[in-house]
Amino acid sequence: GGLPPFTNDAMIDFTVPDNRKAFVEALADVRSRFGQTVPLYIGGRDVTTADLIPTTNPAKPAEVVASICQAGRPEIDDAIAAAKKAALTWRDTSPADRAAYLRRAADICRKRIWELSAWQVVEVGKQWDQAYHDVTEGIDFLEYYAREMLRLGAPRRMGRAPGEHNHLFYQPKGIAAVIAPWNFPFAIAIGMASAAIVTGNPVIFKPSSISSRIGYNLAEVFREAGLPEGVFNYCPGRSSIMGDYLVEHPDISLICFTGSMEVGLRIQEKAAKVQPGQRQCKRVIAEMGGKNATIIDDDADLDEAVLQVLYSAFGFQGQKCSACSRVIVLDAIYDRFIERLVKAASSIHIGPSEDPSNYMGPVADATLQKNVSDYIRIAEEEGRVLLKRTDLPAEGCYVPLTIVGDIRPEHRIAQEEIFGPVLAVMRAATFDEALSIANGTRFALTGAVFSRSPEHLDKARREFRVGNLYLNKGSTGALVERQPFGGFAMSGVGSKTGGPDYLLQFMDPRVVTENT
Ligand code: NAD
Ligand code: ALA
Repeated sequence: GGLPPFTNDAMIDFTVPDNRKAFVEALADVRSRFGQTVPLYIGGRDVTTADLIPTTNPAKPAEVVASICQAGRPEIDDAIAAAKKAALTWRDTSPADRAAYLRRAADICRKRIWELSAWQVVEVGKQWDQAYHDVTEGIDFLEYYAREMLRLGAPRRMGRAPGEHNHLFYQPKGIAAVIAPWNFPFAIAIGMASAAIVTGNPVIFKPSSISSRIGYNLAEVFREAGLPEGVFNYCPGRSSIMGDYLVEHPDISLICFTGSMEVGLRIQEKAAKVQPGQRQCKRVIAEMGGKNATIIDDDADLDEAVLQVLYSAFGFQGQKCSACSRVIVLDAIYDRFIERLVKAASSIHIGPSEDPSNYMGPVADATLQKNVSDYIRIAEEEGRVLLKRTDLPAEGCYVPLTIVGDIRPEHRIAQEEIFGPVLAVMRAATFDEALSIANGTRFALTGAVFSRSPEHLDKARREFRVGNLYLNKGSTGALVERQPFGGFAMSGVGSKTGGPDYLLQFMDPRVVTENT
């Protein structure tokens, strides 16, 4: 396609004073815009509604980041009508032209990266570096899917029979509902939306109510990129009012969802039922939760293992689908590993993510704070608390960082996704037992093993059955193209984001045979 090969966008070094200065200025800039009313974006126009939901700063819940207009059913109808109209030209726009819009959007994100990162610090409490990396991941999705579309859009001749020419190509499925979580509020949202757009499907985008101001960043970026009106529509709304309505709408062909198992399963069920006037089977791509394990073998390099478990369990407060929530430790190394892990976790700074010296911040809102607190109570009943950090700021949605030992596979803390800074410690007598515990949940998203034994690493490669396995590396932070990301079993249906099969799910293949 004539583009330079894909490379991941550069990481950031906040020891560089200019970078720190840029971030502080961006935080001041977004703060100066706090409290604004954010409209919907439908058919290339801002649309306001009377129903508003505030999004707040989890470190200071009294601070209203933005007032978000909510789409009801009439606005969803309008957005779908705009998308239907746009689809008539967008589906036949060339892959190269569609890809060019994504690359323009990527350039805009690079230009606005400080601001796009700063919104995440104040709206969901993400740490500076992780917020910045969320935006670079978004840029990577745009750049990677642009190239993938050029590859898939190239003419493809099938077979070699004389007197016959067979041409295979892909067409878009139709109109896509993109339903996103709040935890990678920019990257995952723009990844799903850009995949739908570049494959020719206009999008109705529903962000999470917790991160709808960040969701509006997508509308800003795509508008600035000059995307034709109706191709991208921003429709935050109350799930109870418009969630099922959007999923069940007969004109929706494709639902691209990332979020919890419960909501993902509900969407699959609703989407399977054919509605009056519906003319196609709906495809559901659903990336769901995890209960990810890290195995610490008896010969593991503890310097590495402790730091990586700490980061993958407590980075962004454990609110990643890829987070380590179970650590399975071999008997022979159990006491030494736990002593060091607890010591390290005792010393990290907890406080507002606006201050970059804090390692852990608040969870994203008060409901999540309550959910995680309930699980901490269950953890206290089921196991033995090894660490519970109660030295938390008085104000804000903080929960104690908790490490709980003596957890067995049948415990709820070993089976249910908590989505917070709660780590279950489990003991195994042998590496085989550790693998069997690791595989013993209904999820299969990420996993990690720290070991120096080639034999054990090899066994894990084959028998640790998860979508993304890391050997001597923590389980979070997959990079586009290098670690195509996603799980199976109850962790989701669909092929890996940032990987070579992803875009195929958004299209239907056609073959034309000409007798020559
Ligand atoms: P969630 O399931 O609560 O919400 C996800 C989205 O679905 C939100 O936009 C929400 O408003 C919407 N929604 C809720 N009910 C709906 C309905 N009835 N119809 C249509 N939409 C509805 O998840 P969350 O709390 O935003 O995100 C955290 C979850 O996401 C965790 O379980 C995490 O593991 C998962 N996750 C998975 C991946 C992955 O790649 N596998 C990545 C990130 C997050
Ligand atoms: N892609 C994100 C990670 O790997 C979810 O942490």
